[in-house]
Amino acid sequence: EMFAVILAGGSGTRLWPLSRQSRPKQMLRLLGERTMFQLTVDRLLPMFKPEQILVVTGREHVEELMQQAPEIPRENFLVEPVGRNTAPAIGLAALHLRRRDPRARMAVLPADHYIRDEARFRAVLRAAFQVAERGFLVTLGIRPTYPATGFGYIERGELLGRFGGFLAYRVRAFREKPDLATAERFVADGHHSWNSGMFIWRVDRILEEIARHMPELAAGLQELEETLGTPEEAAALGRIWPGMPNTSIDYGVMEKAQEVAVIPAEFGWNDIGSWAALLDILASDDQSNVVLGAEHLGLDTSGSLIFGNGRLVATLGVRDLIIVDTDDVLLVCHRERAQDVRLLVEALKREG
Ligand code: GDD
Ligand code: MG
Repeated sequence: EMFAVILAGGSGTRLWPLSRQSRPKQMLRLLGERTMFQLTVDRLLPMFKPEQILVVTGREHVEELMQQAPEIPRENFLVEPVGRNTAPAIGLAALHLRRRDPRARMAVLPADHYIRDEARFRAVLRAAFQVAERGFLVTLGIRPTYPATGFGYIERGELLGRFGGFLAYRVRAFREKPDLATAERFVADGHHSWNSGMFIWRVDRILEEIARHMPELAAGLQELEETLGTPEEAAALGRIWPGMPNTSIDYGVMEKAQEVAVIPAEFGWNDIGSWAALLDILASDDQSNVVLGAEHLGLDTSGSLIFGNGRLVATLGVRDLIIVDTDDVLLVCHRERAQDVRLLVEALKREG
């Protein structure tokens, strides 16, 4: 059986002041009425039954996420007592799925990405499940457009074949978040894709790789497995989880694993890493403004994002601005400096 596992436990500050520790990106209504998490569920529902969708998240968000996706059964929400990054979260989901079906295949999906062409996304996912059936850990590769240092890079090796109209390649090397010089080399050589952060594999295969490369995590999972479905499960999780390695699946497994495959896939993917990315996604041309959640009166205003909080925002004679109005903070920043919003967050932290 095929399952989708949505990871919805991260915290984010890149879309500050809207995103906070307490309001990560997946909880935000960045693209309209639906939150990023809801959009993630929406695009899966034509392909998966609600019972086949799992959500892994933290205690502080689970109630709200349940309300946002009432079609997903409550027992499909797996709650981490503390966030331990993606490797433990994925291991937890794999453990639960193996109990349901030892031959289960799972797609791991972040809850905070933008995907323009959803039908194509599902077609790629179907192809990836075929490749995963053969035992590969399958990644979806995105053509890199600049030397990003916040992504993983996947080097394509030999062609494995064509699956549902998509080519799959063996992966020669997986490299998480390289430095700038390395990223520049990867983008220039034409053999590398960005890692989209989505993974498709058989649960037995990922648990096998976790056992090989993350023995501490594997031991914790094994201890937990004996309690699954019993009244002891929650207490065991609370006891075991704080001691789990705080490691992403990319560093913990993907950089070291054997039998990794990549399907280069273009479906209008964007991880909305900054306000400028959101402006790019939503703006039809450079002249137009993007207005969300605000009333905007703009005279001689262009290329700007106005993200509001209900009240009127008036601008005159400005261009390429990012304006984000929240209850307690108003951000005004040039669109070209959107990557540096984290500097403000850091400065605020220093001032306490
Ligand atoms: N449940 C749970 N628990 N989810 C988590 C946790 C956790 O402790 N930590 C992170 N997540 C979720 C995030 O909410 C997000 O949906 C997803 O897992 C990925 O985590 P990020 O923290 O956003 O990872 P990243 O952006 O630094 O890097 C990953 O994604 C890139 C593409 O956006 C990597 O896979 C990179 O290789 C990749 O290029
Ligand atoms: Mg991310």
